[in-house]
Amino acid sequence: MASDSSKGQKMWGGRFAAQPSDIMQSINASIDVDKRMVREDIAGSRAHADMLAEQDIISEADNEAIQGGLDQIVDEVEAGTFPYRVELEDIHMNVEARLKEIIGEPAGRLHTARSRNDQVVTDFRLWTRGALTEARRSLKALQREMVKRAGEHTETVMPGFTHLQTAQPVTLGHHLLAYVEMMERDRTRMDDCARRLNESPLGSAALAGTGFTIDRDATAEALGFYRPMANSLDAVSARDFALEALSALSIAATHLSRLAEEIVLWTSAQFAFAKLSDAWSTGSSIMPQKRNPDAAELIRAKASLITGQFAALQGAVKALPLAYAKDLQDDKQLTFAAFDTFSLCAASMAGMMETITFNRENMRAAAAKGFSTATDLADWLVRELKMPFRDAHHVTGSLVAKAEAKGCDLPELSLEEMQEVEPRLTNDVFSVLTVEASAMSRQSYGGTSPVRVAEQVEQWTQRLG
Ligand code: ARG
Repeated sequence: MASDSSKGQKMWGGRFAAQPSDIMQSINASIDVDKRMVREDIAGSRAHADMLAEQDIISEADNEAIQGGLDQIVDEVEAGTFPYRVELEDIHMNVEARLKEIIGEPAGRLHTARSRNDQVVTDFRLWTRGALTEARRSLKALQREMVKRAGEHTETVMPGFTHLQTAQPVTLGHHLLAYVEMMERDRTRMDDCARRLNESPLGSAALAGTGFTIDRDATAEALGFYRPMANSLDAVSARDFALEALSALSIAATHLSRLAEEIVLWTSAQFAFAKLSDAWSTGSSIMPQKRNPDAAELIRAKASLITGQFAALQGAVKALPLAYAKDLQDDKQLTFAAFDTFSLCAASMAGMMETITFNRENMRAAAAKGFSTATDLADWLVRELKMPFRDAHHVTGSLVAKAEAKGCDLPELSLEEMQEVEPRLTNDVFSVLTVEASAMSRQSYGGTSPVRVAEQVEQWTQRLG
């Protein structure tokens, strides 16, 4: 191939008299993107060549030459000296051309019973499998930080919101563990995806399989796949593994974005629930007082980039007839970018969570605002006076209106004032009106009470190792 490429001829150039235009080359080449799969490409070639020799399709001597040449290419890649050439289009032809330069003729036998169509998707499945492992790892690191913070705040009371209106007091540990639960589902979604994608397309050749007596089980096993894919048309054209990975990333990033939004709110002067460390805050060039939560804001924005990458790939695939079409080349830049963005977001969130500090006093004070223990009062009426909950709800509503008219919180009403609404109320009712009592009382499984949260922290600590 050395001589071919020095003459500027394409690897597929046999039937062409003229060279492609420069612009054609620009739109067609993918090497700048797919060079990231060089290790996967070499692993696929090694497995393929070993199998070809084992099946007597190429000689043992050719296989040895191929493996030796690939060793050298690995060294060049690691040393940063591998010559990536745009005129060779993609990583597959770059590796093969370099192999030809190094070992000569045997390199030309490597592509027996193989096509770039099964080759590229083999590489891409291997790459995505590795990237999912990394994404799961980065989420786990974040979960560990969240669980640590939750353990420090099993008893820290904060306002729980619905509609961003004060609802009931909750504990901060409980709030943080809600995200840990979401992230765990995100990780299992990635697990599922990694399991489903782990079948080998190699040996499907261009689309129809091959007439050579290849052993697809052997290559599948060598590459750590569970089994060869059963339909060659499906194998070369399916990209649902990438769609599934991007959809799992998009959901996980959406969770990071929700948490990012809470950080933005909590670190504002108006909430003042939390403070980011200097390492995770930025200043303003004009307003000296500012500590901006830029990383959280960027996570919020980047989550939609990932969702966009998922949508873009789905758009590229949805109207493609079987089997391979070049549209599928652009799957990789979308997928690589989504994984890069995700790992940056997860690492940033872990960094913020490692060093964020929470203001217990401000959270507690905010929890007491907005009649947050009104439900506890209604529950008291149900429990102590055997009132139907609907009636208790009504009585409590009247008490809230009374406090509102007086401009005070519920516990600040006197017993006499309360008894004007419900004469059977006693002093005992005040014991349920503090935010601590409220949070403490919610001991149902999954509830916000410090005892339940401490149990969950314990379980998560064990589980995450
Ligand atoms: N660079 C191509 C891709 O990423 C490799 C497969 C090319 N196959 C072909 N028949 N042109 O999809």
